Amino acid sequence: MLKILLSDVTEWGRIQWMFFLFMVSGTCSQCTVDQPPVVTAALGHDAIMPCQLSLSDNVKMVIPPVLYWAVLPQESDDDKLWPPSENYKERVDLLDKGLYSTNKSVLFRNVQWADSGRYQCKVSITTKAGRFRRLGNASLLVVHDTMTFNLSGHNNSLLCEVNVTHDPGFVLTVFHDGYKLQTGDSSASGDSYSYLPFVTLSEAVLLRSNGTYECQLHLNEDLITASIFHYHPPEPKDAGKNVSATDQPDKLVEYKEPWHLYTALLLVPTIFLLVLLTAMLICRD
Ligand SMILES: *[C@@H]1O[C@H](CO)[C@@H](O)[C@H](O)[C@H]1NC(C)=O
Ligand SMILES: *[C@@H]1O[C@H](CO)[C@@H](O)[C@H](O)[C@H]1NC(C)=O
Ligand SMILES: *[C@@H]1O[C@H](CO)[C@@H](O)[C@H](O)[C@H]1NC(C)=O
Ligand SMILES: *[C@@H]1O[C@H](CO)[C@@H](O)[C@H](O)[C@H]1NC(C)=O
Repeated sequence: MLKILLSDVTEWGRIQWMFFLFMVSGTCSQCTVDQPPVVTAALGHDAIMPCQLSLSDNVKMVIPPVLYWAVLPQESDDDKLWPPSENYKERVDLLDKGLYSTNKSVLFRNVQWADSGRYQCKVSITTKAGRFRRLGNASLLVVHDTMTFNLSGHNNSLLCEVNVTHDPGFVLTVFHDGYKLQTGDSSASGDSYSYLPFVTLSEAVLLRSNGTYECQLHLNEDLITASIFHYHPPEPKDAGKNVSATDQPDKLVEYKEPWHLYTALLLVPTIFLLVLLTAMLICRD
């Protein structure tokens, strides 16, 4: 029905009509900018900040879209991830460099604690019907450091620790051979009023039996990183073995032939024989 209606009007009228339609339907209603709510990055590593422009089939861009990546809260126009402002120079790159590409994802290099925050993808598109601006819902960039999972002290307990951006959605969980362990003494140190840009999450479990212990860091439902610890308690038999193994070679090295004793023992009969021989010669004279 729309097609019939449109073919009846003149070209100029048609443009005006389409413009009117866009106005009524909220201008290019099916054009959206989509970005994930959360992006996680390992400290010091690169992160991909995804952003995808979706257009309705009938919408054609007449000039390349203009992309902005804003840093929220937007305090000044000089603070932009893309095109990179001074503080982001050399650290941000457009992944798909095609002028008319709808993939507006950027690569964010060497992510630091200070980069934690919200980033909004904004695209301006120009069609025959006019110019429209679409905003993404912003992505929250959260950062985590390397996880450590170690035997602590002498009390046979395993301690899992990781530094993360302050976010209540982060949870540490420890598994033993695939079964979730109840720990209860999980803690987040580094107070919320602390000047540190991160908090330390830690989880301690007592080692019960051998097997595989795994510590997992989740952000809400998503697994972010994990660390595995294989535990094999030392067997008493082995302890006995290493005593004899280390002691024997030492004795062998210390043991030497008493050549001077052999010589002394040989000298006694020789001297005795010489004395006897001398005595016999004297007696014959
Ligand atoms: C943005 O957020 C609003 C409200 O939270 C939601 O209704 C909308 O679907 C979201 N848009 C996108 C593109 O995810
Ligand atoms: C956008 O481009 C990047 C890099 O080429 C790619 O990793 C990503 O999957 C693309 N996104 C979409 C939605 O195609
Ligand atoms: C084990 O020892 C560490 C210090 O070495 C301590 O922080 C931890 O609370 C102890 N865990 C248990 C279960 O006693
Ligand atoms: C076995 O050797 C280790 C390392 O040399 C040592 O610490 C340990 O005490 C030894 N075992 C026994 C039972 O002496």
